[in-house]
Amino acid sequence: QSSDMMKFKEALKSAKQVVILSGAGISAESGIPTFRGAGGLWRKYQASSLATPGAFRSSPSLVWEFYHYRREVAAKAHPNAGHMAIAQYEAKYGSEKSISVITQNVDGLHARAGTKNLIELHGNLYKTRCTKCKEVLVNDDSPICEALAGRGAPDINVVGSDIPEKSLPHCQKQGCGGLLRPHIVWFGENLESNVLEKAGEAMSSCDICLVVGTSSVVYPAAMFAPQAAARGAIVAEFNIEPTPATHEFHYYFEGPCGTTLPLALGD
Ligand code: NAD
Ligand code: APR
Repeated sequence: QSSDMMKFKEALKSAKQVVILSGAGISAESGIPTFRGAGGLWRKYQASSLATPGAFRSSPSLVWEFYHYRREVAAKAHPNAGHMAIAQYEAKYGSEKSISVITQNVDGLHARAGTKNLIELHGNLYKTRCTKCKEVLVNDDSPICEALAGRGAPDINVVGSDIPEKSLPHCQKQGCGGLLRPHIVWFGENLESNVLEKAGEAMSSCDICLVVGTSSVVYPAAMFAPQAAARGAIVAEFNIEPTPATHEFHYYFEGPCGTTLPLALGD
């Protein structure tokens, strides 16, 4: 193994507070396309036309079809060696170290791999929120409603394929009936303050941070690892290519994290 990897593993051994910050790249090897890398999801869809409150107001059907499609893709995917290495590391060392996973992903794969101490910065594809009473519901991966079942990826060029709003998922709470939305943080929206606070606490107290599979271009997540490095924490980036933040970190391990994370976190 590279001398850098050996040095990193030494530092990890003596660390007391470990944070793993992940982005779409950790799920790439599970077959879930990333947003900005090669074959990125946004290449086909304009993020601004889908993952925004404005888009939901003007075409809730299109936004629901997009998220429902992503749910179906994620439900068919499986955690990969990268997710597993993190879950196994927590299972093994979680009693003697504080280990937190902070993810920007909404695909639920860290939890399915067995990670316990998980902060989902941008929500989760399997959660809905009522636009009226704000109740957040966790659902399983069965279709959220009849009309959305099996619709597949929306074709944003085909106008008029919209599902009528009354057939979109609505709140079942007595007397509410509000339209449900994906419990996802959209562009231009704030992250939930309690989530941001929890992530901030973990980041400000960690001795070591692994930043995995993120392009580090979306705030506030993009700020976390550089801030930790500036404070003196040891930060190691795991990516298939350098990012705008690579130069701020102590270590950069190039390669698919399905390969590099088991090396870094395994014994
Ligand atoms: P943005 O510029 O809207 O900022 C994101 C949020 O972070 C803003 O609400 C802002 O209040 C907060 N923020 C920005 N700088 C901050 C700072 N220094 N300290 C604390 N908070 C800060 O970012 P964006 O690119 O428009 O995206 C908005 C959010 O939507 C992001 O979290 C993005 O990841 C998320 N998103 C999710 C999906 C998805 O499908 N999961 C898709 C698109 C965007
Ligand atoms: N191993 C490691 N890194 C990888 C792999 C892999 N197998 N495959 C791709 N990557 C890297 C890419 O090089 C890129 O740097 O993962 C990163 C994916 O970046 P993005 O697609 O921008 O995903 P992310 O950083 O999570 O986006 C942040 O923006 O659209 C919003 O809310 C959405 O959570 C998302 C946020």
